[in-house]
Amino acid sequence: MHTPRLLSRCLFVAFLLSFVSGAVLPARSPAARPECHDFDWTLHISASNDFGFAVPAATYNISATYCPPLKAVANRSQTVQLLIHGATGNKLYWSALASPDEQGYQTYNYSWTEFARLEGYHTLAIDRLGCGNSSHPDPALVRTTPEVEIVAQLLEILHSKSPRQASHSFLPSFSSVILTGFSFGSLVIDVLLNKPPSPSSIPLINATILTGYSHIPNSHPNPNVTISTQQFLPGSQVFPVRFKSLDPGYKTIATATNYAHSFFAGAYDPIVPNVIWSSEDVQASGEVNSLAAGASSFNISSVATYRAPTAIVAGEFDEPLCGGNCGSGDTDLLAMSKRYYPGVEEEEYFSLRVPNTGHMLHYHESARGTMEAVHDWLARMGF
Ligand SMILES: *[C@@H]1O[C@H](CO)[C@@H](O)[C@H](O)[C@H]1NC(C)=O
Ligand SMILES: *[C@@H]1O[C@H](CO)[C@@H](O)[C@H](O)[C@H]1NC(C)=O
Ligand SMILES: *[C@@H]1O[C@H](CO)[C@@H](O)[C@H](O)[C@H]1NC(C)=O
Ligand SMILES: *[C@@H]1O[C@H](CO)[C@@H](O)[C@H](O)[C@H]1NC(C)=O
Ligand SMILES: *[C@@H]1O[C@H](CO)[C@@H](O)[C@H](O)[C@H]1NC(C)=O
Ligand SMILES: *[C@@H]1O[C@H](CO)[C@@H](O)[C@H](O)[C@H]1NC(C)=O
Ligand SMILES: *[C@@H]1O[C@H](CO)[C@@H](O)[C@H](O)[C@H]1NC(C)=O
Repeated sequence: MHTPRLLSRCLFVAFLLSFVSGAVLPARSPAARPECHDFDWTLHISASNDFGFAVPAATYNISATYCPPLKAVANRSQTVQLLIHGATGNKLYWSALASPDEQGYQTYNYSWTEFARLEGYHTLAIDRLGCGNSSHPDPALVRTTPEVEIVAQLLEILHSKSPRQASHSFLPSFSSVILTGFSFGSLVIDVLLNKPPSPSSIPLINATILTGYSHIPNSHPNPNVTISTQQFLPGSQVFPVRFKSLDPGYKTIATATNYAHSFFAGAYDPIVPNVIWSSEDVQASGEVNSLAAGASSFNISSVATYRAPTAIVAGEFDEPLCGGNCGSGDTDLLAMSKRYYPGVEEEEYFSLRVPNTGHMLHYHESARGTMEAVHDWLARMGF
């Protein structure tokens, strides 16, 4: 009759382990790590015209994670980074693929959220419409214009220009918002700078960081580029356990090999593409159609009233934007992209071509160096 004693011993050991790791028990000591909050925003989106497509008015839930800083830095106590992920991603992209309260996949190397919080910033990562735990409407309706309006509404709420939802009392009000995007998330920000739902959105952006992005795509295609051969299949088919109930218009990349070829290049841990692919999210057909209809024309410029410090960052071998080569010197596509931000001062425009790195720059060997360089720039800009 050893079983009950063995069981209780196991439970005791589990209790100790959970206490030591802090993973299960709620933290109680005054020195405890400040916790993040997961919550939903319920937002009413107006009808709009998205590059010729009539988007109806709708109400959506947008899932978000707010994290307080891990270190007090006086001049950042009211500064938040609003983080907008890329296609087939979700908000966990910013925190090493796990909730920021948990140990992620090599958090130290890959978590932008952890890095920013240790520098004294608050972070707020959202799941874009049709991704993660946000609403999944008819995938045809997930267009760039409603996504832009969602970001514009969040800017107002964070600056307390719009009333808070009563359940969000844990969320402070901010004096500065730094808009930070990756890939398709950067494109949503770029469209916001070109077509703000209201002129009053623009001054609410204190700084912009566009990562995994070039405003000017590569015009000299590289024979090594494989992105056009990427196979997109319904998420319900590729990952039936996670996406079985989704409309087949929500697609994802079919294989890890495909994923690695399109998004990784140069120096990276060869396990990482697999790790990310196996937790990847979906992209709605409407986003692809919005890109095809004009959101990706790259002819757009930010409005003249947009003057905030702006950083544009990509791996030198980025495929989706740079066709595998972001250029250098006179052909540096990231430096050349400045002309699309006419109101931004030269000395407040920062372009960073990350050496030996592909599109998914936050998960290459260079990732920490990139976080350091971008945050050094933010500090130089006064944030
Ligand atoms: C938003 O979430 C709430 C709570 O889960 C739910 O009751 C409501 O129906 C959702 N609204 C939409 C538009 O999905
Ligand atoms: C960061 O990456 C390096 C090199 O790949 C690895 O040796 C190290 O264990 C990682 N550190 C952490 C804390 O994950
Ligand atoms: C969505 O919610 C579930 C349940 O809380 C959680 O396990 C999952 O990590 C969340 N996904 C995202 C992208 O936040
Ligand atoms: C950020 O923007 C807000 C709203 O326009 C403004 O009041 C605030 O002074 C700005 N912060 C900085 C540091 O410029
Ligand atoms: C294509 O890839 C090969 C092998 O990685 C490389 O040697 C070559 O320079 C690449 N070609 C171009 C045009 O980038
Ligand atoms: C973008 O510019 C190109 C070249 O000038 C032009 O052919 C194209 O029609 C423009 N697209 C849009 C959507 O304005
Ligand atoms: C804010 O504090 C950081 C860290 O102490 C510093 O690097 C930065 O220059 C400061 N910014 C301003 C505007 O004082």
